[in-house]
Amino acid sequence: MILPSLVARDEQARERMDDPRCDPRRLARTYASFRPVNAAVAGWRRAYRRHLRPHLRAEGATTLLDIGCGGGDVARALARWARRDGYDLRVTGIDPDPRAHDWARRRTPVAGVQFHRKLSSELVAAGERFDLVISNHLLHHLNEEQRDGLLEDSARLARRAVVHSDIRRGRLAYALFSVATWPLFPGTFIREDGLTSIRRSFTAPELRARIPSGWTVSTPGRFRLLLLHDALARARR
Ligand SMILES: C[S@@+](CC[C@H](N)C(=O)[O-])C[C@H]1O[C@@H](n2cnc3c(N)ncnc32)[C@H](O)[C@@H]1O
Repeated sequence: MILPSLVARDEQARERMDDPRCDPRRLARTYASFRPVNAAVAGWRRAYRRHLRPHLRAEGATTLLDIGCGGGDVARALARWARRDGYDLRVTGIDPDPRAHDWARRRTPVAGVQFHRKLSSELVAAGERFDLVISNHLLHHLNEEQRDGLLEDSARLARRAVVHSDIRRGRLAYALFSVATWPLFPGTFIREDGLTSIRRSFTAPELRARIPSGWTVSTPGRFRLLLLHDALARARR
């Protein structure tokens, strides 16, 4: 294994799954593999308990938007966890990629979860609002203009809180992911795109240097970044 320096972000690296001409069977197996990968590395159970569950309404429904939801496994997991905790969480997952949208829509339906092929800017233009807005593994995907747009859109769309979760770039993360996924996920883009994602992702200081006021960066564990926005605090100011 060749360990790149990772001192700086590699913004030129491209994920294979973003290529519109990539092998559709490999892509479908990649979407299917997001669920175990996210369960192992993304830390949403903890983020749900700390940053989302405190906002769920005891009476009536709470709404949540997952931007760039891919195969939709995080959207479905959040709806299930909330239901198990006795809350009515209505989740909307959006993704502009027709292949991701198609794949997500064809899974066994989970109560309270729906998927749309849309961009966050379209929801802003339509005047939509959600109590909570999240994304997973989206920040590193975007160029600077798209990232600024995402933060502006998500702050507008959220009534209560925004949680953007992503990988934190580091050599240990790269080495562990490379070794752990070596024999796993054959016939998918998981290993290659995962390593590309780590090369494209931020360190905490880099992300802090790029965010507008009203946002904070937290580092739950060694390998993750959370970019948080408290819409309620902003409304109180
Ligand atoms: C690495 S995948 C992550 C999917 C899913 N969130 C997960 O964690 O399994 C990134 C997703 O973001 C979507 N995406 C790319 N650019 C986007 C944008 N500007 N707005 C919303 N989603 C975008 C892609 O289509 C892709 O499905």
